[in-house]
Amino acid sequence: MKIISDIQELRDHLRGQNRASFVPTMGNLHEGHLSLMRLARQHGDPVVASIFVNRLQFGPNEDFDSYPRTMQADIDKLEKEGVYILFAPTERDLYPQPQEYRVDPPQQLGDILEGEFRPGFFKGVCTVVLKLLSCVQPKVAVFGKKDYQQLMIIRQMAKQFALPVEIIPGETVRAEDGLALSSRNGYLSTEERAEAPELQKALRDVRARVLDLNERNTHSLIEIEKIAVDLLTSRGWQPDYIAIRQQCDLAPASNESLKAGEPLVILTAAKLGKTRLIDNLEI
Ligand code: PAF
Repeated sequence: MKIISDIQELRDHLRGQNRASFVPTMGNLHEGHLSLMRLARQHGDPVVASIFVNRLQFGPNEDFDSYPRTMQADIDKLEKEGVYILFAPTERDLYPQPQEYRVDPPQQLGDILEGEFRPGFFKGVCTVVLKLLSCVQPKVAVFGKKDYQQLMIIRQMAKQFALPVEIIPGETVRAEDGLALSSRNGYLSTEERAEAPELQKALRDVRARVLDLNERNTHSLIEIEKIAVDLLTSRGWQPDYIAIRQQCDLAPASNESLKAGEPLVILTAAKLGKTRLIDNLEI
């Protein structure tokens, strides 16, 4: 595997390749990332991965400095997956001049849910993803469904800028007890790790209640969200949101959208101790 940090060198290596598939990451790779590499391999060749902890998407009080950086272990894993190039720019390689041009996603997608609790997050994500796509120029790029809103925003960005890339979603990989794999799981204490699968259980409970809605069970969707928030709070979590949304645009689901059989998704973010976890479940 070639490890490249310089944009020009990357372009030289990829010259003439028009079937490359790309998986951008922030490193600290786990089985979830590796499943994206395998998916990328099914859709293109060669597979290019990137590791870059993107300062632009972290808020001032977030974990940019402490975000786990495990480059050698990541390299070993990518080599085993047969990745052809690892693009691992430094901040100076990727942002040689201050990145003053930014991509600002529309408010109705970028300022809700994660965007409400992490202002500027999607601006930072879109800016780096556009830049990485422009460096690699892949035919396809793979993003995990665990970051459901991120996936949707990047898809819309690719569409609105007519980027010549297909965005492919990768399924969330979970531990045996249901916890979605995430680099931030490493922050959890032993007790917190034992509690963490309750987040997915709460989503399953919401899904069961939504599917059970009928004349006898007249809870509103908002009440169902509140039951889940209260349950998690009583177990010691600090939920930011549990939201039942339409899959197509992440707008709040209504009884009408339910009746019309609109595909829905339940999204959540909640803190356990100091660790903020996100997850989602499609209905
Ligand atoms: O999902 C991530 O790891 C990051 O948000 C991404 C897409 C690599 C951009 O920094």
